[in-house]
Amino acid sequence: MKVSEALETRITTRAFLDKAVSGESLRQILDVAKRAPSGGNLQPWHAWVLGGDELVRFKALIREKMAVTPRGEGTEYLIYPPELTEPYKARRFKVGEDMYASIGVPREDKAGRLRQFARNFEFFGAPVAMFFAIDRQMQQGQWADLGMFIQSIMLLAREHGLHTAPQEAWAIWHKTAGEFLSIPPELMLFCGMGIGYMDETKPINRLRTDRAPLSEFVTFTGI
Ligand SMILES: Cc1cc2nc3c(=O)[nH]c(=O)nc-3n(C[C@H](O)[C@H](O)[C@H](O)COP(=O)(O)O)c2cc1C
Repeated sequence: MKVSEALETRITTRAFLDKAVSGESLRQILDVAKRAPSGGNLQPWHAWVLGGDELVRFKALIREKMAVTPRGEGTEYLIYPPELTEPYKARRFKVGEDMYASIGVPREDKAGRLRQFARNFEFFGAPVAMFFAIDRQMQQGQWADLGMFIQSIMLLAREHGLHTAPQEAWAIWHKTAGEFLSIPPELMLFCGMGIGYMDETKPINRLRTDRAPLSEFVTFTGI
């Protein structure tokens, strides 16, 4: 598969088939993704891969906790700037509207929206979950490195016929995830990710998100 095909076919997949993913594929994906670049070659990423009974146990624990505190445990980092300005605010609003429209949930249907949001904590049905964390001493540059590592995983997954769902939503369960996975205290959970085979029959997976044209964000000089 060409890199461009992997990029064009990667979408955040919010409904997965109940079909096992081979451990060998996951190892290969991670083994190649580790070639991602990082400033000073710090390789500041830490990853956990969860599947089988352990994933079932983890999801059950989260379900139990969600029944008591549906909003989770608070986040350790700000997922979005508190005062998001344009054009970012409008983009965020639009993708939310488009996603709920794809499953026929109108703006007023708060319960329907909450139900969809809660699907995050089932990894959208993915048979495998990943978690990513970074050492708390790390700065913006290393967070960018972690992002490159995660994108590498998502693109390599396409080569294996797999799809992914990166999930910052997991930041609200950082304590429970940290305890379950024995994440050392010096690390901060960044996000989770569902990985598996896409359920192509589900309308939510037909959503194709917008991108701004180059003229909005690239400045060419001397080209
Ligand atoms: C780091 C990261 C975290 C994300 N967290 C969530 C999440 O918690 N839940 C969710 O439904 N989508 C999440 N997304 C998906 C974005 O909404 C999605 O990437 C964006 O709308 C573009 O759509 P696409 O991935 O289908 O191209 C996340 C994406 C990234 C890169």
